[in-house]
Amino acid sequence: MKTIQPYPIEVRGSASRPLGMSLARFLRDYWQKRALLIRNAFADFQPPLQPDDLAGLACEPAALARLIVHDEKREHWQVNSGPLNEADFARVPDRNWTLLVQDVDKWDADVADLLPHFSFLPSWRVDDVMVSYAEPGGGVGAHVDQYDVFLLQGLGQRHWAISDDPLAPKAFRADVELKQLVQFEPTHEWLLDPGDMLYLPPGVPHDGVAFGGPCMTFSIGMRAPSQAELTGDLADYIAEQLPEELRYTDPDLKPATTTGEIDRAVLERLKRALPFAAALRDELLHDWFGRFITRYRNAQAPAPLEKPLTADKLATKLIAGAQLLRHPWSRLAWSRGRAGSTLYVSGQAYATTPALAQQLCEQRDLALNRKLLAAEHSLLLALVNDGHLLLRTSRRRR
Ligand code: SIN
Ligand code: CO
Repeated sequence: MKTIQPYPIEVRGSASRPLGMSLARFLRDYWQKRALLIRNAFADFQPPLQPDDLAGLACEPAALARLIVHDEKREHWQVNSGPLNEADFARVPDRNWTLLVQDVDKWDADVADLLPHFSFLPSWRVDDVMVSYAEPGGGVGAHVDQYDVFLLQGLGQRHWAISDDPLAPKAFRADVELKQLVQFEPTHEWLLDPGDMLYLPPGVPHDGVAFGGPCMTFSIGMRAPSQAELTGDLADYIAEQLPEELRYTDPDLKPATTTGEIDRAVLERLKRALPFAAALRDELLHDWFGRFITRYRNAQAPAPLEKPLTADKLATKLIAGAQLLRHPWSRLAWSRGRAGSTLYVSGQAYATTPALAQQLCEQRDLALNRKLLAAEHSLLLALVNDGHLLLRTSRRRR
């Protein structure tokens, strides 16, 4: 009995259904979810740009172009990130190289005319049309992208290999700036002809290699701001609207019993000052505020020791009577957490105990007993090496 595949990975497009299915079905079943190869997505496709035009554009000083040569024997990737010139093209080998130019839609109106075919997506989600030219064997190696992409074959053939295994390893090679995968085991392989198009959601490992002759691929890439970018920009935006006189306030302050502690009441006041941050986990708010407030308005910060001390060297100095003195520019605070306490010093965080955190906040000239010196040796060593505690060797009188 023939089983019906609910989400076929390969379909055939037609003039009325370029994606081989309704747009609603594509968005529901594939968009951001699974890869799809669409044969004949663009019937009788003629590339809107010729290889020579692309090479010419790549030599424009403002163009974002990369020329990548793969030395298969030495497994070495040479990346020339431009600006490129004619001599760079004269030097390339007969095969195993590719030229990639980003944002070609901004330079070429015919390439920009590809974009209306993707008008079923919000226009602000579309990043650019990147165009690649490759000689046989040319490609950028197996990698993952963070964004959805439609890889439209424009000229010649390209062999595509992808892995739709959600558990596929994603670690990338540290030795190549192209962020290629250390390991890549394809689950699907195809040869694409002009007009065929491969859709990939973010995170799908893929490798495209020019096959047989010259090859051009038009990549319609999406953009999706990271949560980090969204957060940073929103914070800047909100900050721009807030008047200077709205500040952290504590009219409810009680006499401090624990020096330097960022306690529960501080957290509540922060939540009142930052209503949009009230939903954050307390630990996160604590940790951010501890780092922030010990950096805030510091005209200077201590520099780490050029030659860090070893644990033994510090022990020897302390046994010989050296004193620990807080650097005048170091600012300290601390907070209690579920898994212990954290000491914040000029924006840095150190795990500690409440007793030592408090003592470090209280005393400029530390008077630590032998037991504490031994128990907290690694923290003291870190503070000394980071420049927050200075060692004062006591001179003996003659
Ligand atoms: C290409 O070489 O044209 C495609 C690059 C990619 O896989 O992102
Ligand atoms: Co890619």
